Amino acid sequence: MTRTMLLRFGAALAGAALLGACQLETKSVQQTGFRGTGMDQVHLVSDKKKIGEVPAPPYDPPKPGGKPAREAYQNVQVLGDISEDEFSYTMAAITQWIAPEQGCNYCHNPANMASDEIYTKKVARRMLQMTRNINTSWTQHVKQTGVTCYTCHRGQAIPSENWALPAAGNPDTILGNKHGQNAPMVSTAYSSLPNTAFAKYLLNSDSSQIRVQSEYSHPSKLATTSTMETEGTYSLMMHTSTALGVNCAFCHNAGSFQAWNMSTPKRVGAWYGYRMVRDINGSYITPLASVFPKHRLGPMGDPLKVNCTTCHRGVNKPLGGVSMVKDYPALRPSGPLVTAAAAPAPAAAPTKMP
Ligand code: HEC
Ligand code: HEC
Ligand code: HEC
Ligand code: HEC
Repeated sequence: MTRTMLLRFGAALAGAALLGACQLETKSVQQTGFRGTGMDQVHLVSDKKKIGEVPAPPYDPPKPGGKPAREAYQNVQVLGDISEDEFSYTMAAITQWIAPEQGCNYCHNPANMASDEIYTKKVARRMLQMTRNINTSWTQHVKQTGVTCYTCHRGQAIPSENWALPAAGNPDTILGNKHGQNAPMVSTAYSSLPNTAFAKYLLNSDSSQIRVQSEYSHPSKLATTSTMETEGTYSLMMHTSTALGVNCAFCHNAGSFQAWNMSTPKRVGAWYGYRMVRDINGSYITPLASVFPKHRLGPMGDPLKVNCTTCHRGVNKPLGGVSMVKDYPALRPSGPLVTAAAAPAPAAAPTKMP
């Protein structure tokens, strides 16, 4: 080989190696911000096909009318308002979604269907209330698309995407207490950011403000945001982006991450999303700690909870925005339910100094 040939060969090899790091597949670009701001989402066309398929109803939905379930059965506390036929149809559907292999007996003692002796039935009853509440009180987030048990469970008794309070670090080791940092893991999108963001921001209605900047520059009672807050907020934002399969500009204008008037309307949807997840975890799942057997709980003894990925699975609208709940009216009753406190509108950034 001559020297030039060798050089050419080398260059070709280096080129191939460099291109190997690129994704050569066809991409689609969707503009999500104002024109000229470069707020675009780039997706692989092949990823679009991965959006979950929605299972068909167990059989044709029953016609309305007939005896209400609370009269037909002995121990119906949540679904009493639907007809006997619709009740059976709903039971068949939740079996498909939660325990397709085990069947009805995953929650029932077949000798006495009214008995609450199996813990999964008690959990399922609370989940029925939770799902109804999501579909009626959180429409600012789930819109008319709504959710069913399948949105989270996907045919598994325990949704594969969940979190629990992280085990407390041990300050006595040679590494000291790492405060959940520098340990790449899914929950922080493999960054070195702390793994405590879910516990801090997604636990219940008392969760911390999701902020990095104080609204005021001078020390004052209102300047409450610390550097620790910054790390937690970025960790949560990395999770948000990964969960929805979007980049930061889906919601924010990089000119100011804080300013609501520069953000896209999607950020408002996300704002309600954080509050909805706090309601799910704080009002419904955490109180089930005493119902679950020990092996179902996390290292700190709390039940496994929900984050944005539990429903979204890398897609901006879970299941590609297909509304399953329209086939299951039992999960979205039309009458008013639990009256959740009306969610306030996102506050505009203050303009005055205190
Ligand atoms: C994931 C748990 C779960 C599975 C699986 C399940 N059920 Fe249920 N079932 C419940 C819950 C929860 C209730 C109580 C609902 C309420 O209080 O409104 C219930 C109540 C019932 C009742 C009323 C009993 C009474 O007299 O009070 C019947 C009948 C029933 N289910 C039948 C079935 C059948 C048939 C299947 C299988 C096709 C099934 N269930 C699968 C959770 C489940
Ligand atoms: C917002 C997400 C979400 C929705 C919607 C949801 N679940 Fe769950 N469910 C969870 C999580 C998270 C767990 C795991 C809790 C644990 O194991 O500590 C769970 C656990 C359960 C369990 C216990 C399983 C076991 O083996 O221990 C049952 C039963 C259940 N859900 C039934 C239902 C039913 C029925 C519906 C629909 C009416 C429903 N879920 C809707 C998130 C959800
Ligand atoms: C799906 C929408 C969405 C995506 C994607 C998103 N964010 Fe956010 N972000 C929000 C919302 C909503 C808030 C405000 C939360 C609140 O007030 O409860 C917020 C708050 C913030 C804040 C705090 C602003 C302040 O007022 O102090 C920063 C900084 C931030 N995001 C950065 C990012 C970065 C960096 C990314 C990408 C890694 C990102 N965000 C991705 C919705 C999003
Ligand atoms: C209980 C299931 C569930 C959970 C958990 C959930 N979402 Fe959603 N989200 C939905 C549904 C359903 C939609 C579709 C609404 C529609 O059709 O416009 C949606 C839509 C959105 C959208 C609008 C997307 C678009 O293209 O218009 C954003 C942004 C969003 N979610 C952010 C979040 C964030 C951030 C979290 C975590 C804090 C979260 N979601 C948790 C169910 C969920």
